[in-house]
Amino acid sequence: MSLEPLARLDLSIAERIEALRTIEEEVRVCQNCSLAQGRTLAVPGFGNFESVVMFVGEGPGFEEDRQGRPFVGRSGQFLTEMLSKVGVQREDVFITNVVKCRPPNNRDPLPEELAACGDFLTRQIALINPRIIVTLGRFSMTRWFPGASITKIHGQVKNIGRGRVALAMFHPAAALRNPPWAADFERDLQQLPRLIERAKRANEAAQRGEALLPGTPHPGDPDYVEPPQDGDASDLAQSRLL
Ligand code: URA
Repeated sequence: MSLEPLARLDLSIAERIEALRTIEEEVRVCQNCSLAQGRTLAVPGFGNFESVVMFVGEGPGFEEDRQGRPFVGRSGQFLTEMLSKVGVQREDVFITNVVKCRPPNNRDPLPEELAACGDFLTRQIALINPRIIVTLGRFSMTRWFPGASITKIHGQVKNIGRGRVALAMFHPAAALRNPPWAADFERDLQQLPRLIERAKRANEAAQRGEALLPGTPHPGDPDYVEPPQDGDASDLAQSRLL
């Protein structure tokens, strides 16, 4: 049984956008943990609500706290540059964090802060329903790859249920501090265009009413086998499900 949130497919796009705006308002006035006292602005997340990709970082830093938007400082500049290197525009993805307020002096978020913020992220995932979740750094990795070590699993794509995959990546700030990790970051991100392409195909199939059958491997699975390109009719019918 997947722990991933069920997509709110019962809502229209307009209703989902309204619900996402409501979450933003709740985050902006949230008092669920002590990070609220030190913040200038909370950072709910920003980007394309209809994206097939959601990036999940750790928590706002100095610039993000001032501007109320995620990844707008040096790490964000690096992320934007890397995205454009692999042909993905930042405006086309949605970006958020596991904690929505800046921890003092950019310290690691505490378990109670992660717990206090967790429900916002769960609701954002249910409403945006991304096919691909890219984890940036240890804290978001742990939500989908519990117990894993980032240096061992970065670049891994994992089926997390509900037709979603997670791609584990280094945090951009860590990549900036360590040039070999910056090279890994770029290499790991090179998988994204292919995952996006497959995710869009899966969504188109679902829109035609060809919902993914239980047990059907998600096209982002590392062990997924590409259906034959010029196969017979049954191959074609099968490929529409993938
Ligand atoms: N680091 C993060 O993890 N998130 C941001 O939004 C900015 C820096």
